[in-house]
Amino acid sequence: MQLFLDTANIEQIREASRLGVISGVTTNPTLVSNEETSDYETVIKTICSIIPGSVSVEVLAEDSQSMVAEARVKSSWAPNATIKIPATADGLEAISIISKEGIPVNMTLCFSLNQALLGALAGATYVSPFVGRLDDAGHDGMQLVKEIVEVFKYYDYSTRVIAASIRHPQHCLAAARAGAHIATIPYGVLTKMINNPLTDIGIARFIADWKRVSG
Ligand code: E4P
Repeated sequence: MQLFLDTANIEQIREASRLGVISGVTTNPTLVSNEETSDYETVIKTICSIIPGSVSVEVLAEDSQSMVAEARVKSSWAPNATIKIPATADGLEAISIISKEGIPVNMTLCFSLNQALLGALAGATYVSPFVGRLDDAGHDGMQLVKEIVEVFKYYDYSTRVIAASIRHPQHCLAAARAGAHIATIPYGVLTKMINNPLTDIGIARFIADWKRVSG
């Protein structure tokens, strides 16, 4: 499973990219609006210059023709821009048009196996089931990830599954066990995955023991 970072914060992206474990970034209008510079183009161009992998940039238009026009503009911002389009009827139409033009698409706000199946048929490069939001609504978000992965494997679809709306490290482990190709995680989840007090205690003990014999 690959990890993408789910943020528009440049500092977090720089920090995480140094670790060599992040293959892409997903943004959305909310994440961009939380940043000091909420100029979407500047933010995306900067992220794309730091991370060579897929960087998801969302369309704001709601009708298919405007989505297509917006997708073409936003994909021209950087060679590694992936266009995020929601799982609506207009979204599917836009996905089928722009994916034929070779523009990579991440179908976002996916909450059902039916939506995922339609996204794959429309030609989406990625579909993003929103695990945390499903859990919040009393459903089992990770079960959906598992089902999408199984069905895509059955038909040999090339569409990749991004476990999105990840809230904690257990979600990330469950995504890996469910066979998600990618989990897109907030920076806070990444740091929680790294840190373990036993590692810190182990380092302190090694250093103390070494100092005792080496003076
Ligand atoms: C994914 O691409 C979305 O940006 C993100 O995972 C949404 O997460 P949230 O439900 O925590 O807002």
